[in-house]
Amino acid sequence: MLYPFVRKALFQLDPERAHEFTFKQLRRITGTPLEFLVRQSVASKPVTCMGLSFKNPLGLATGLDKDGECIDALGAMGFGFIEVGTVTPRAQSGNDKPRLFRLVEAEGLINRMGFNNHGVDNLVENVKKSHFGGVLGINIGKNKDTPVEQGKDDYLICMEKVYSYAGYIAINISSPNTPGLRTLQYGEALDDLLTAIKAKQIELQQKHHKYVPIAVKIAPDLSHEELIQVADSLVRHNIDGVIATNTTLDRKLVNGFNYCDQTGGLSGRPLQLHSTEIVRQLSKELQGRLPIIGVGGIDSVIAAREKIDAGASLVQIYSGFIFKGPGLIKDIVNYI
Ligand SMILES: Cc1cc2nc3c(=O)[nH]c(=O)nc-3n(C[C@H](O)[C@H](O)[C@H](O)COP(=O)(O)O)c2cc1C
Repeated sequence: MLYPFVRKALFQLDPERAHEFTFKQLRRITGTPLEFLVRQSVASKPVTCMGLSFKNPLGLATGLDKDGECIDALGAMGFGFIEVGTVTPRAQSGNDKPRLFRLVEAEGLINRMGFNNHGVDNLVENVKKSHFGGVLGINIGKNKDTPVEQGKDDYLICMEKVYSYAGYIAINISSPNTPGLRTLQYGEALDDLLTAIKAKQIELQQKHHKYVPIAVKIAPDLSHEELIQVADSLVRHNIDGVIATNTTLDRKLVNGFNYCDQTGGLSGRPLQLHSTEIVRQLSKELQGRLPIIGVGGIDSVIAAREKIDAGASLVQIYSGFIFKGPGLIKDIVNYI
């Protein structure tokens, strides 16, 4: 109810400043009586996916809480699961600012953050301190200065470090803001990466006596043939889930809007139909062999239902949360 006022104030600030300010306030109230300010009760809508029990099928998408600093405050808002990251082995500052833009009229965002994060060790420390009762996904990537041919090593380092703290691990090979990263989605490079990741998962399962599912996050900018190849590769390598989709490079729907020419990935409302179509095509190809987590432009109950109708078992939000606020969580969970 209050969010339109909060949003009005936050939207006066540069987007990244608004993010930093909000996170500072969330950190401040975490664990204090003031936590009630963000706490909402949502309906219980249990669902099982990737062998995990979710209290509801709505998650926070990666990138909002890159370092896992506000897991408890975000969890109090009612998410069934939270995906933190993308985190890399070593801390890195990301691209130069400004690197995040609001396309207000289009209800979209363009970002070229470039995996700014404090490194995997810092994330693990934050996760250890959190008390979130839902499923925690940890999304991992490679450092910018790691050559893409050695990118695999970065994923394996992160897997080792997060394995015992993660509900599931998300493999990000689809951010448009790390040069070369998306090439890992194709042919031999993908097979190579998935072979190594699967072997590491089995090794870590034996070590920790716990099976942590692996989900791979893909871009919306794949052709139909490429999408089919990715889907087949995920099935062949016994990957546990697929997250569709990351942000898009396509600007067709936002031509003429402020900031439309900024370099980076576009998210939010302009991505909605396209990512739903990717979910639909994936679902047709996969025939239930692995579950799909649908993400991209979900900004209403109907948009969430469309992702589920297209074949998603779980859904995530990011941009819609920025534009609509925590009330969106309650609406989606209650009516999904
Ligand atoms: C500012 C920003 C940062 C993001 N950072 C990441 C990231 O680090 N890793 C990742 O896999 N996706 C990242 N994403 C993509 C989101 O997780 C999501 O896939 C995408 O924004 C589409 O969902 P939406 O339309 O609900 O925002 C980011 C998105 C935004 C807007």
